[in-house]
Amino acid sequence: MTPNPGLRLVKRDASGVDLAFRSDVLLGLAQIQKAVPARWFYDDAGSQLFEDITQLTEYYPTRAEAEILQGRSGEIADLIGPGRAVVEFGSGSSVKTPLLLSAISPSAYVPLDIAGDFLRASSAELAAKFPGLPVYPVEADFMRRVELPSEVADLPKLGFFPGSTIGNMIARTATDLLRSMRETLGTGALLLIGMDLVKDEDVLIAAYDDAAGVTAAFNLNLLTRINRELGGDIPIAAFRHEARWNDTFARIEMHLVAQSDIAFTVSGEQFAMSAGTSIHTENSHKFTRRSGQTLLAAGGWEPRARWADSAGQFLLVLAEACPPRSAP
Ligand code: AVI
Repeated sequence: MTPNPGLRLVKRDASGVDLAFRSDVLLGLAQIQKAVPARWFYDDAGSQLFEDITQLTEYYPTRAEAEILQGRSGEIADLIGPGRAVVEFGSGSSVKTPLLLSAISPSAYVPLDIAGDFLRASSAELAAKFPGLPVYPVEADFMRRVELPSEVADLPKLGFFPGSTIGNMIARTATDLLRSMRETLGTGALLLIGMDLVKDEDVLIAAYDDAAGVTAAFNLNLLTRINRELGGDIPIAAFRHEARWNDTFARIEMHLVAQSDIAFTVSGEQFAMSAGTSIHTENSHKFTRRSGQTLLAAGGWEPRARWADSAGQFLLVLAEACPPRSAP
């Protein structure tokens, strides 16, 4: 899956420049703490590098979540029950989606993604693996309520949002997304969501700054993309990848740190950075059981069950969309 939850439908200028990309980059580079939204990591090279990250020894989340889906499939299936329409927020992972679908006997699969080509390719692959399962891909921005296909209107729904992609959003955006998911799926729907847990800082730093330098290449590729698509002249060799633990917000932050005083232009606008300052490129929030529950509740979801992997690194939560209740 390409974790691209924030993408909007692409609008381009006459020369083919993605206007949202340009505006995010120019606004972000003009700030005192420079920042570019993480969703822009995922061009073709970035998507491939992310797939490579998921195979790294240090990057435990993908393995941990697959272990839960495999090892607890019986319990997960009992609680979810057969016959649901599985609505996946994203195009589907080649490993995790088949694990879920084979565990629970769904009656339809509806992947939602803004990246149409990617969506069609991964849907065709999935349909070939599950010949009897109706697959209805929907090209849409799932940050807002999505109209589901009429074929699944009367089926009970299960939302699926694996990978702890929810952790890549600040709390306000994550809450908005959970509320949109609730609107898309309806009252009584279930949501199976991956949440990475707070853990030893060394383990986290290694996961986001691996020895082989794949995460560094993933981070630096953003600069390559800016130079290519926005006519930039950023001196990429002057930047170093850094993963930092921010204890106040319980998150790993990725930064690109300038190694010397530099000046560059992007889309004709000039920027300068002094040595040691950075461009903040990603947040990856980590949860406790409690903070995960609080976030889900803010989005209108009540946890019904939770499963951790054997090393206690990652949580898969099954939550139910609850009608609003009065509270003191
Ligand atoms: C997609 N997302 C959940 C990944 C994460 O762990 O936050 C993206 C990533 N960034 C660096 N490594 C992986």
